[in-house]
Amino acid sequence: MFITFEGPDGSGKTTQVGQIANTLRERGHHVLLTREPGGTAIGNQIRQILHDMKNQAMHPRAELLLFSASRAQIVEEVIRPHLKAGGIVICDRFFDSTYAYQGYGHGLDLETLRTITQFATGGLRPDLTILLDIAPEAGIQRRLSALAQGEEWNRLDAMALEFHQRVRGGYHTLASQEPGRWVTINADRAVAEVQADIVAAVEGRLDKQS
Ligand code: TYD
Repeated sequence: MFITFEGPDGSGKTTQVGQIANTLRERGHHVLLTREPGGTAIGNQIRQILHDMKNQAMHPRAELLLFSASRAQIVEEVIRPHLKAGGIVICDRFFDSTYAYQGYGHGLDLETLRTITQFATGGLRPDLTILLDIAPEAGIQRRLSALAQGEEWNRLDAMALEFHQRVRGGYHTLASQEPGRWVTINADRAVAEVQADIVAAVEGRLDKQS
């Protein structure tokens, strides 16, 4: 089973994916937890380019192709082999981030994005996608407190508020188009409450697949 997590910056994905991965491991599942962009040695080098505050001049099309290159690598090197071996893969962001950020956020043509994504993934699609939904204002606040605790503030965090609002709207549209794959969870609550909803969503899907 392939599970992806999506949501605006500051939605708490990283904490939540770590917890659900541990829960599933405790229950005996073979779980691989990874993230995009990154997740491979090559992907991590691409991630550095994408995050670098010096790269303000990056064109959205160049950005899209870098995300897609990282994705092509992680799919073949990490995700497919683990799924083939019968494990569960949890990925912190996947192609829906491209539709939300590069498509709805930057206004790149969605049909073109679908073609490039299909090429990059070789057609691999998540079985379950969990949207951790939060208003951009609240998400940015969370990112600012993380920054105060020493986390990096990256080039993508620095995008304008309207951009993040378009991203969130994009996620809502994507989720409504494929209700069988998406589960939307209100992420503007305590970590444990959000996690309880995630566990329920994942359990529901595992029951269906077994
Ligand atoms: P990251 O530090 O991983 O943030 P987060 O913890 O919120 O996932 O940075 C990833 C950033 O890249 C985030 O702002 C979303 C953006 N992104 C895209 O714009 N397109 C994509 O295809 C992906 C995977 C991420």
